[in-house]
Amino acid sequence: PSSIGILACELYIPSLYVDQSSLEIYDNVSKGKYTIGLGQQRMSLCSDHEDICSLCLTVLSRLLDQTGLHPKQIGRLDVGTETLVDKAKSIKSVLMQLFVDYDNTDVEGVDNINACYGGTAALFNAIHWIESSFWDGRYAVVVMGDIAVYAKGNARPTGGAGACALLIGPNAPIVFEPGCRSSHMTHVYDFYKPDLSSPYPVVDGHLSVQCYTSALDTCYTHYCKKALMNIESQSNPLSIHEINLSTFAAILFHTPYVKLTQKSLARLYLNDIIRACSYIPNVLIEKYKNLDIRSSLNNKDLERDLIEHSRELYEQKTLPGLYFSQNMGNMYTPSVYYSLFSFLSSQSNEEQLYDRRILLFSYGSGLASSMYSVVCRKVHESRFTLAQIQKSIKRARHILDYERIELTPDLMDKLLLEREKNEHKVPFIPLQPMETLKSDDIYLKSIDKNHRRYYEKF
Ligand code: ACO
Repeated sequence: PSSIGILACELYIPSLYVDQSSLEIYDNVSKGKYTIGLGQQRMSLCSDHEDICSLCLTVLSRLLDQTGLHPKQIGRLDVGTETLVDKAKSIKSVLMQLFVDYDNTDVEGVDNINACYGGTAALFNAIHWIESSFWDGRYAVVVMGDIAVYAKGNARPTGGAGACALLIGPNAPIVFEPGCRSSHMTHVYDFYKPDLSSPYPVVDGHLSVQCYTSALDTCYTHYCKKALMNIESQSNPLSIHEINLSTFAAILFHTPYVKLTQKSLARLYLNDIIRACSYIPNVLIEKYKNLDIRSSLNNKDLERDLIEHSRELYEQKTLPGLYFSQNMGNMYTPSVYYSLFSFLSSQSNEEQLYDRRILLFSYGSGLASSMYSVVCRKVHESRFTLAQIQKSIKRARHILDYERIELTPDLMDKLLLEREKNEHKVPFIPLQPMETLKSDDIYLKSIDKNHRRYYEKF
């Protein structure tokens, strides 16, 4: 099989949100700290009818409905999440409810867990299955989602929630470029969840940003080398002699908060300056030729200077990918894929996207990270097109813009306190108003005394 990639997608937009400028007032922090300092506008929240399984069930069931695929046509289903409701039973096994009624239990794959990286690990598994001798010709689906909540304090405004389902197969309009991938994985305690009774992580926020940035440097260095060899060997009309930021139509990142992506783009620009890439002005190459990049992680003056120099690139290549993140917050595992959705929906005409290459960086604390690229293409003899993908994203954007309910920060606090209290309470029946649900949403109906969860379609 060739041109393996994303054929179709469905996005989940949680029904509740809090406005970040009201949160600044409520938290008594200086005006602009969350909206300018972090770059966030709104943060998604879930009601007690929404848990990680309901989010994943909903996007998967919508993907099957919207594509018209029969569940028997799916041969692999991988899940990525860090919102655990059980230490043994996978969310994938919960999702099998949507297959068994159609007499399909021959579906490989289970859950993938490592902070925000699980979705990417799930996606790589799906791609590798299709490339392998075990592929049976059917489609793969990847579902990833999280409800990201932090304890009260400075990390709380960087929460969020979201989930998406991706249909993966050959002859795709968004193709993962063979050979163009690098990873950086190492052992660090920047963000982790050792307390299994709590929904909150233990987080050293500033350390996590440093780890993210050095992972970015390493992945980009290796990506550039590997991609150059692989793209050149593909006898491709796009053949290029140097990989740098101008190689890509979009540069998209895992987005804990929007401001970090501006710093990340600036950081990649610094990498290009130090490599003396052909498009960089000589004055910048001269200015930074003696800089030791590894010791520059906490240099704020350097960061500000690079943000200024790379502003135009950021506005062209990264900002169009931030609409969902800015208005939903950190979705953890699906975050970088929402950036991809946002970028794709920012292009009004699918033809503008043909043959364009997009760079993606996925990061999960602890840590696991990868950088890879996709290319958009016109497909022949397939109903899975870029235009269809853009349509699905537009539906989600409509919900985001017009169908969400705003909560005041004090109600948000109450909701999160309730969630904390009920985290492992059984039996449990969600009591919040059902009006936040949309038709066909699959919601949590109850949890019995043996911790078994029951779901129903709204
Ligand atoms: N107007 C404009 N900007 C402001 C204002 C204001 N009134 N007040 C503060 N700022 C700026 C600060 O100068 C700072 O800018 P800088 O990043 O350029 O230095 C920025 O806002 C943030 O302010 P800090 O004081 O650094 O924020 P704080 O220490 O309170 O927390 C943090 C920020 C560390 C990101 C925290 O929210 C956190 O721990 N989040 C969770 C961890 C995280 O998201 N890590 C990222 C990678 S790992 C992952 O995805 C989970």
